[in-house]
Amino acid sequence: MQDKELITLANDARAKAYVPYSNYRVGAALLTGSGQVYTGVNVENASYGLAICAERTAAVKAVSAGEREFVAIAVVTDNGGSPCGACRQVLAEFGPQMRIIVADSAGNSRVHTMSELLPDSFGPANLPRK
Ligand code: THU
Repeated sequence: MQDKELITLANDARAKAYVPYSNYRVGAALLTGSGQVYTGVNVENASYGLAICAERTAAVKAVSAGEREFVAIAVVTDNGGSPCGACRQVLAEFGPQMRIIVADSAGNSRVHTMSELLPDSFGPANLPRK
């Protein structure tokens, strides 16, 4: 799966964003270790604080389908906004080495690693299990 294909899927998903309050459409396309792609959009709510980001929508869809390894995610907005801190933390749980492709609607994109976006992160290794 090429980055460009992932960007296209994320951009297409934006049409389904539910954004009556911010009008800021975010689309995500998450590539997992099995080779499947899960898309997500932001879903807002009249109780504003309950908005769910596109990245976390895609993440929970993937994990609900049995996925446990995130390889890459493309995130597309009009202006190339980066994933928020909460989404970085949720994605890192399943993709500490994943690539994050951030794109805008004009076709510009940049690529980050998770460790660039969330250095010195808290993760599963901090909670040793017996
Ligand atoms: N949003 C995302 O979907 N992903 C992010 O990483 C940042 C913000 C959404 C939440 C809200 O619906 C809108 O963008 C404006 O904050």
